[in-house]
Amino acid sequence: TKASIGLVGLGVMGRNLVLNIERNGFSVAVYNKTQSKMHAFLQGEAAGKRITGSDSYTSLVEQLERPRRILLMVTAGAAVDGVIEEIKPHLEPGDILIDGGNSFFLDTERRSVALTAEGFHFVGMGVSGGEEGALWGPSIMPGGSRESWEALRPILEKIAAKAEEDGAPCVAYMGPRGAGHYVKTVHNGIEYADMQLIAEIYDLLSRGAGLSAAELADVFAAWNQGELRSYLIEITAAILRRVDEWTGQPLVDVILDEAQQKGTGKWTSQNAFDIGAPIPTINAAVESRILSGLKSERVAASRVLHGPTGHYTGNRSELIEAARAALYAGKVLAYAQGMSLLRTASQEYQYNFDLAEIARIWRAGCIIRASLLGNITNAYRRNPGLTNLLLDDAFREAVETRQGALRRVVQTAIELGIPALALSSALAYYDAYRSERLPANLTQAQRDFFGAHTYRRVDREGIFHTEWGSA
Ligand code: 6PG
Repeated sequence: TKASIGLVGLGVMGRNLVLNIERNGFSVAVYNKTQSKMHAFLQGEAAGKRITGSDSYTSLVEQLERPRRILLMVTAGAAVDGVIEEIKPHLEPGDILIDGGNSFFLDTERRSVALTAEGFHFVGMGVSGGEEGALWGPSIMPGGSRESWEALRPILEKIAAKAEEDGAPCVAYMGPRGAGHYVKTVHNGIEYADMQLIAEIYDLLSRGAGLSAAELADVFAAWNQGELRSYLIEITAAILRRVDEWTGQPLVDVILDEAQQKGTGKWTSQNAFDIGAPIPTINAAVESRILSGLKSERVAASRVLHGPTGHYTGNRSELIEAARAALYAGKVLAYAQGMSLLRTASQEYQYNFDLAEIARIWRAGCIIRASLLGNITNAYRRNPGLTNLLLDDAFREAVETRQGALRRVVQTAIELGIPALALSSALAYYDAYRSERLPANLTQAQRDFFGAHTYRRVDREGIFHTEWGSA
């Protein structure tokens, strides 16, 4: 009998997905370029399971039932093109290639167009949840033809995470071509924003209000019992509790403050600029990582650039409670930006996104999973055409009632000289979005002044230019 699915690339994500697929009742044929790695897997974790190896693409393809389903779990970029080129001569029309890596969505668009023209199906599939998710249930975001989705559906629904609320699998058809990888990219952009908002609250409460890592662990653990309940808050509490075995200090205090990035957050910002969608809090998160990377410059500057470095002297528990509410408001505002970006992209690339479905499959399995996502799902179910999440009654009220806390927290950070790029941008987004009139009238006048770029008027139709004279 033939194997249900093939997998190329036995890195940790690939290996764990294979084990997950097999545990759910499917046989898997695997291939890895470095054959010793494959043999180690077959003799180790895969021993005694319906997992078979292949020493070539010919043998991989021969082992698979038709139409063949082959999942590529190789490093995003040139490696994906390389594997596609090598495997293609062995395929038949109707076979389905799936890229489960963090590929750039425009690469997926290109591959999709090329492979579709040759009669193959190409599925760009976002997978979130890290190593544990891959093994026990990730959130899965596949894009491609509907036909290929139907062919993959039985496997994907089995291996995906199940939401606590209703037991539904965290996978759905995202849309054509690069839709799945686009959604995964925005997921990561929101992930960056969420992480940065948490980091700024941590900074304010530790550097500003003097809370120890252990005290903060308790704060985050308590928050995780309420409306902030989420994976990122949960791991933050666990991280803050961990003691370094060498120094006996909280481990977090001895970790170098230079954040790295593989690029998906940056892609989200770059694309948002391209299609004209404002996502200031995601941008702030990307910028904050870049700023953190200037460690030696910052060390030098810290000696010569002065500003407030005071400690918070007000009521600590009041600040903690304000921080909790501010973090929730910030999160909602970051999600509002991410969902709006998806809405804009849906039109730009004809992805025809179902925003309720996207929020639904982010409820479990992925890095940004949070109880908030259940509420977001409901908001888009109530009104699929919702222009902005903030216009949903429940979310409007959620931000309205917490904006005072957000303002207080941002104000405190500013007074103490603690940078809060993400929190303050979330607040500014709220204030800009709810402004009937912004100062862009002046910007337009300036453009017309120095470059005769023209402007429109509020009181009559047409395009106008003024002879401004010289300054
Ligand atoms: C996920 C994550 C994952 C991502 C890492 C690292 O959804 O499982 O988003 O795909 O690769 O979190 O991302 P950075 O290196 O860019 O921080």
